[in-house]
Amino acid sequence: MPRTVYAFPSTETLAANLRDQLLRAQDEALAKHDRFTVALSGGSLPQTLAQGLLAHPESFQWDKWHIFYADERCVPLDHADSNHRLAREAFLDRVPIPTSQIHPINPDLVDQPAAAAEDYQHQLMRVFALKGAAVRFPVFDVILLGMGPDGHTCSLFPNHPLLDEDEKWVSYLTDSPKPPPTRITLTYPVVNHAHTVIFVATGASKQPVLERILDRNEPLPAGRVNPIHGHLYWYLDDAATATLTQT
Ligand code: 6PG
Repeated sequence: MPRTVYAFPSTETLAANLRDQLLRAQDEALAKHDRFTVALSGGSLPQTLAQGLLAHPESFQWDKWHIFYADERCVPLDHADSNHRLAREAFLDRVPIPTSQIHPINPDLVDQPAAAAEDYQHQLMRVFALKGAAVRFPVFDVILLGMGPDGHTCSLFPNHPLLDEDEKWVSYLTDSPKPPPTRITLTYPVVNHAHTVIFVATGASKQPVLERILDRNEPLPAGRVNPIHGHLYWYLDDAATATLTQT
């Protein structure tokens, strides 16, 4: 799998380059299948994305975007912990993506994580299994991921049994070490079938875990992302990469 690691001098430069890459990915996706499917993480990612996307929103064909969440906390959609709320406040509310093409978790199922995960998988199937054709796994045009200090990504945490999930598209957990404990998450097979996976990690606090993943190839959850046919990018800043030898 090809892997490209970028280190930018600032978050501003990172965000501008990320925007350019998303524009190219959008144009390629539209030429191929007339829509652009994107999965987003929570954390600091939506703010960084907003910095790039909202600087030139007119460049994008928003009516062709379909947004899913790489992981979501099982809380009401207007809760302070909701990744959907975070993404809306950061940029989704300011761009004209049709509401029917933004896919939050079912708010009626936040107290039933197993049902919420199953429902989310059905939401994915409705978009990715077009015309009744069966697909083994969805192929996102782009999955945008963050990474925690323990190396987690999505809600795939070190040593968690969900790391071995190889059937389901969406799983749930009730024991997330990062609060809140109850979440749903895309699984590795879905992440690894994407056309493009982009990690975004900034700031000196990411140095130790980046050393473990990029320099020492430790199999932490983020380090195990390995697109089968796609391309993997790491968008980092100088603060995060200062101690790395591989960039
Ligand atoms: C979540 C996130 C999670 C996040 C990382 C990185 O809902 O908790 O999706 O996987 O992306 O923890 O977060 P930061 O970007 O804030 O470091």
